[in-house]
Amino acid sequence: MIQIAIMGHGVVGSGVAEVLLKNAKSIARKAGEGIEVKRILDLREFPDSPLADRFTKDFGDIVDDPDIRIVVETMGGLTPAYDYVKRCLEAGKNVVTSNKELVAAKGDELLAIAKEKNLNFLFEASVGGGIPILRPLDQCLAANEVYEIAGILNGTTNFVLTKMIHEGMAFEDALALAQRLGYAERDPSADVDGHDACRKICILASLAFGRHVHPEQVHTVGISAITLADVKYAEAWGGVIKLIGRAHKREDGRLDCFVEPMLLSHASQLAEVNDVFNGILVRGDAIGDVVFYGRGAGKLPTASAVVADVIDEVKHLKARKYLFWEKGQEGYVADYREAVSPMFLRLRCGDPGACLERLESALGPCARIAVEGAPAGELGLVTPPVSEADLEALLAAQPDVAAESRLRVADF
Ligand code: HSE
Repeated sequence: MIQIAIMGHGVVGSGVAEVLLKNAKSIARKAGEGIEVKRILDLREFPDSPLADRFTKDFGDIVDDPDIRIVVETMGGLTPAYDYVKRCLEAGKNVVTSNKELVAAKGDELLAIAKEKNLNFLFEASVGGGIPILRPLDQCLAANEVYEIAGILNGTTNFVLTKMIHEGMAFEDALALAQRLGYAERDPSADVDGHDACRKICILASLAFGRHVHPEQVHTVGISAITLADVKYAEAWGGVIKLIGRAHKREDGRLDCFVEPMLLSHASQLAEVNDVFNGILVRGDAIGDVVFYGRGAGKLPTASAVVADVIDEVKHLKARKYLFWEKGQEGYVADYREAVSPMFLRLRCGDPGACLERLESALGPCARIAVEGAPAGELGLVTPPVSEADLEALLAAQPDVAAESRLRVADF
């Protein structure tokens, strides 16, 4: 019997305990040994839990217990999760975490400790909830030069956008529902403002391209500025607006990496990823495009990924599984304003016809989008590929033009 501990009995941690109890037999068969939860760390009381006798408020009961071989961290946040996870690894314990904030900020350091100690540090649940993505990226796609990853990485914002677009639900109501369903972060601004998606694209980019990408290096925009007018233009153009985390490897070795709402054609494999679902597209030189799809948030889907990592660690107690990336580097992520793509613009102009002419003489032919009932002076269009820096300069030089919206148009 392998003894483990769970730190944090919130949505995910309680789901992990539940799955381990419910599927104990089949999990033991797959792991080759039974798995027993010896300790659960939480400051709260859970007298009705079937594991009520295992709760402790003292981290020492876990880190100092030599019988505990694997520690699951589902507390979230950096404090005290970073300190606790580091001390568990230093004490020779294998660790599984669902904590994307921790991995995005400290993954390189924690992986280095795990490597030095010949331990496993796994975090499949940190990206895409229950979707298997990190292990496939690291192992099944290992033959490929992966050069691009683009994903709908946040279930809450996708749920909110879907409810707004398809059901006309108000933003606040949709967000409150996502919170009630256990999808949202404790502080939902981490979802709405794109920080959660940013952490996930950092983890994906670090793993795929081999060097740590820090959240501070990633230009991040959330969904709060998206209006129903933009949604209407997207529909008239033939697409949808989705919050996308994207990482693309340039020929010079640097990355384009950002989180932004983007305009996706209905033909895109990510366009029909709705509600709390996540979709992650990976482009490799041998495989072409491959898309991973499933529930990106929620108690049991996320617990499913955590428990799979625990099973993997039980099977590899004596051999470290190779999952590693190097430290980050300044300048590794290029300035987002250099990245070239077609742009959707919604402009307020004194003279839309003259404005379009001037833009076309600078950029080449643009696709004008007509929307019924658009206010006078509004101009919606998609430009040819242009960098944000060049577009900004061009718009600033236009007399009588204000940009209401500017979104990159996806090429996937
Ligand atoms: N708040 C996150 C989301 C939870 O909505 O995707 C899963 O990471």
